[in-house]
Amino acid sequence: MAVSSEFSPLLERFRAAFPRGGPLWCVRAPGRINLIGEHTDYNGFPVMPMAIDRAVRIVCAPRSDGAVELRDANEADYGPRRFGIARRIEPYEAGDWGNYVKAAVQGLVDHAVAAGGRLSDLRGMSCVVDGDIPVEAGLSSSTAVVVASALAFARVNGLHIRRRRMAELTAEAEHYVGTRGGGMDQAACLLGEEGKALKVDFFPLRAQPVPFPRDFCIVAAHSTVNARKSGGRREAYNQRVAECAVGVHILARALGTPPQRRLADLARLQPDLCPDEYLALLHRETGGRQEVGEEEAARLCGLGKRAFRARYALGRDGLFKVMARCRHVLTEADRTERAARALEAGRVEEVGRLMDESHASCAGDYEVSCPELDELVGLMRKEGALGARLTGAGFGGFAIALVRLADAERLKKSLLAGFYGRDGRQAEGRLFVFRPARGSGGRKVS
Ligand code: GLA
Repeated sequence: MAVSSEFSPLLERFRAAFPRGGPLWCVRAPGRINLIGEHTDYNGFPVMPMAIDRAVRIVCAPRSDGAVELRDANEADYGPRRFGIARRIEPYEAGDWGNYVKAAVQGLVDHAVAAGGRLSDLRGMSCVVDGDIPVEAGLSSSTAVVVASALAFARVNGLHIRRRRMAELTAEAEHYVGTRGGGMDQAACLLGEEGKALKVDFFPLRAQPVPFPRDFCIVAAHSTVNARKSGGRREAYNQRVAECAVGVHILARALGTPPQRRLADLARLQPDLCPDEYLALLHRETGGRQEVGEEEAARLCGLGKRAFRARYALGRDGLFKVMARCRHVLTEADRTERAARALEAGRVEEVGRLMDESHASCAGDYEVSCPELDELVGLMRKEGALGARLTGAGFGGFAIALVRLADAERLKKSLLAGFYGRDGRQAEGRLFVFRPARGSGGRKVS
């Protein structure tokens, strides 16, 4: 079967690395930007991302020895890896790129075994991996590796898993690398549609495509600060997840409901309460304190300190800013709902305003911005963006601006002059214009 030219060099690389006959599969999984709804997904509230036209690509073939063998197409970047399929696959060292593939394989092994399959029936695979999503930048390059690997493993094993289920499965599977992420990135990657943003709801996952206005686009600019998904940033992310969980426990007790897992579960039980009422309750319950110590945070969740740390994969001892974090999440959920309605109705200016408010809340209450992101967002607005904000988990990575297509080049030039080129800041590979692109896909090649 013919395969698009984006795979030609990778196919050549594959045939050189693994000379053999037989069928091959080509799979592709895109990155994403998130328009609005930041740090809401793991709280059960909606997000509004879109897939972008940058992706991870894998060419793969089955193996009969139960091994997974990986080659990076540009070997200078990431070394080869090899591991065996097992009921429990031991991770490589934290931060190793092979862990994203292991996460996917472990997730599908669990899935196959839970469905009554036998481990010994699963075939290994040889893979050559390539991609053009900027890494450590908040555009979901690591999720794209997980999803592409999962699609590859499913194909070589003839596992038929629907896209929505695959999105849920890979979101869960990615916890293997130690980040307690939600399901936004996997949903955007698997369910994205050309020309459409996705309003995604969780538990259960539902994705509703929302047409993105034709004459608008997103200008994305890297803050030059790396947003690594391992190390300190992972700890800071997991800490946010735990802070929200503490809030849920305090609120559930105050409302007299049984313990709930997420803020959105509470909101479903008490649909008449508005964010301010929840915040007033929190204020009352915590005696107006802005922070809670770890001992108390664990106790509020009904756990010992050790179990609490393990559940949220926490790092250092920290203080839990429950009030501010919950304020961000509850107001961001509301902004996301409003932005989805505004986008649907073509009220683009309103979407822009909500993006601005989202950034202020991410920077202030959630503390996931940094001076470079704030500077970029400020410049974007000054240069006429309808709205601008950080995108993804934050702590560095990309800022995005909602602009008219006709103004995109001008904005890029202003950012080149006003942001890059200063203090040795490089613009190479850091400035893009995006429109919503198609989600992941794959095909067999004989
Ligand atoms: C990361 C996670 C997502 C989401 C965002 C923040 O990208 O993988 O699940 O939580 O951060 O919105």
